[in-house]
Amino acid sequence: MDLKQLVSHAKEYGFIYQSSEVYDGLSAVYDYGPNGVELKNNIKQYWWRAMVQMHENIVGLDSAIFMHPTIWKASGHVDAFNDPLVDNKDSKKRYRADVLVEDHIVKIEGKIEKEVKKAMKRFGEDFDEEKFKSEHPRVSGYVDQITSIKSRLKETIESGDLEGLRQLIVDLDIADPVSGSRNWTEVRQFNLMFNTQLGNVAGEEGKLYLRPETAQGIFVNYLNVQKTQRMKIPFGIAQIGKAFRNEIVARQFIFRMREFEQMEMQFFVRPGEEMKYYQEWKAQRMAWHLALGTPEDNLRFHDHDNLAHYANAAVDIQFKFPFGFKELEGIHSRTDFDLKQHEDFSSKKLQYFDPELQENYTPYVIETSIGVDRMFLAMFSNSLVIEEVPDADGKSSERTVMKLHPALAPVKIAILPLLKNKPELTKKAKSVFDQLKLDFNCQYDEKDAIGRRYRRQDAIGTPYCVTIDFDTLEDDSVTIRDRDSLEQRRISIDEINSVVQKGISWPTL
Ligand code: GAP
Repeated sequence: MDLKQLVSHAKEYGFIYQSSEVYDGLSAVYDYGPNGVELKNNIKQYWWRAMVQMHENIVGLDSAIFMHPTIWKASGHVDAFNDPLVDNKDSKKRYRADVLVEDHIVKIEGKIEKEVKKAMKRFGEDFDEEKFKSEHPRVSGYVDQITSIKSRLKETIESGDLEGLRQLIVDLDIADPVSGSRNWTEVRQFNLMFNTQLGNVAGEEGKLYLRPETAQGIFVNYLNVQKTQRMKIPFGIAQIGKAFRNEIVARQFIFRMREFEQMEMQFFVRPGEEMKYYQEWKAQRMAWHLALGTPEDNLRFHDHDNLAHYANAAVDIQFKFPFGFKELEGIHSRTDFDLKQHEDFSSKKLQYFDPELQENYTPYVIETSIGVDRMFLAMFSNSLVIEEVPDADGKSSERTVMKLHPALAPVKIAILPLLKNKPELTKKAKSVFDQLKLDFNCQYDEKDAIGRRYRRQDAIGTPYCVTIDFDTLEDDSVTIRDRDSLEQRRISIDEINSVVQKGISWPTL
């Protein structure tokens, strides 16, 4: 499905609403509806279980959003958490200068693709794409253009040459996508942190930031956790929480938001052993994604081309979103940079005493960091399909179904009395609902024909539906329907609990 279809499904079925919609919305901020909050909580639970519950040496933390402002000086966010910004003087629209250039590259890539498709048709089976790209004069020209643009972009970004970046936009003759105007301002650095003011302190002194990542809360607490929990290296601290970034370009629904949630884990290791753990975490995190049934073709590793100054290795797990492969999760080997910075800025020792080595050192850190909302979008786009299925009369009909892993499904089971106006059926169905609600998130639904009720549950990914009919009154049996196979079978009311429990169990890792 394309992004437009996902957005409209998310709204229609109570997953995601635009924030402040009655006031025409607030850009890049979203609210999660009744089904959305359930799916989101299940994603968080899956991550927490995999990190904290499944690892004896990983513990949890919930640090505050507000932190001492010097933390952000130490971490480098005050000085360097910037994006290059450019305004169009005519449309008054604001853009990320590097994204304008990247979008230009995408356009050239589109031209190459067009030529390749045409040639494929012409040459059929014998077509050699790489040879064609290097030998066809127009196409090889496009390829050279891209190489040269990428190299200039990299050079200007790495050296902080904002004038050079503007010149690149001018040289490429890039126009404002809204107005078509080429009347650009200078390129300026724009800090992505939101700030606010502490109540009783005026001016710069009282300036507070909304955290742009949860990780720093872990770094500044690592010794508290280590000492109070008697943790021995290697050990990890996991945290789920809100983060805020004043993104210049906020597009693609919940992919890039200004208020979002992160699930981050910092793993503290001996200096020199970080690459071993980096490789282990890469494998573990990929296994976590695959265990949900995400097709391998939709996930890939992407090594960072340019390493941040504090990292000695970094990789993204990318997911194939409707708008292409993009970062879903980051795995970074952050060396001892953050802890050393906090030692310098706080003048406190943040060293760990290793009882085996009988020495003090500043641990190295492997970080895994994934956005809850991005994971939500990945699961949404992975699972939502339109398919042809046989209806009650054996004819084929279309259904929209969310084939979510059952453990993530917002509602686990729907309880449906066959007829609404038969009190004996609705009473029995409500008693089944009362029995099941103790263990599962259930939904009772008596409105409309049974087929329509099934379709409503399919659309939100409910793995099971049980129907209460006249036989139920006789023998306490129900029809249970499986979302994916559409199989319907009779089981006794007493068995429902164990069937559902088995069907919705967490993926094994
Ligand atoms: N502590 C490391 C860190 O924050 P990051 O790559 O900037 O690294 C980690 O962010 C993850 O957070 C990303 O892989 C993405 O899933 C999520 N994320 C980052 N910015 C986001 C945004 N504006 N909206 C939604 N999710 C975002």
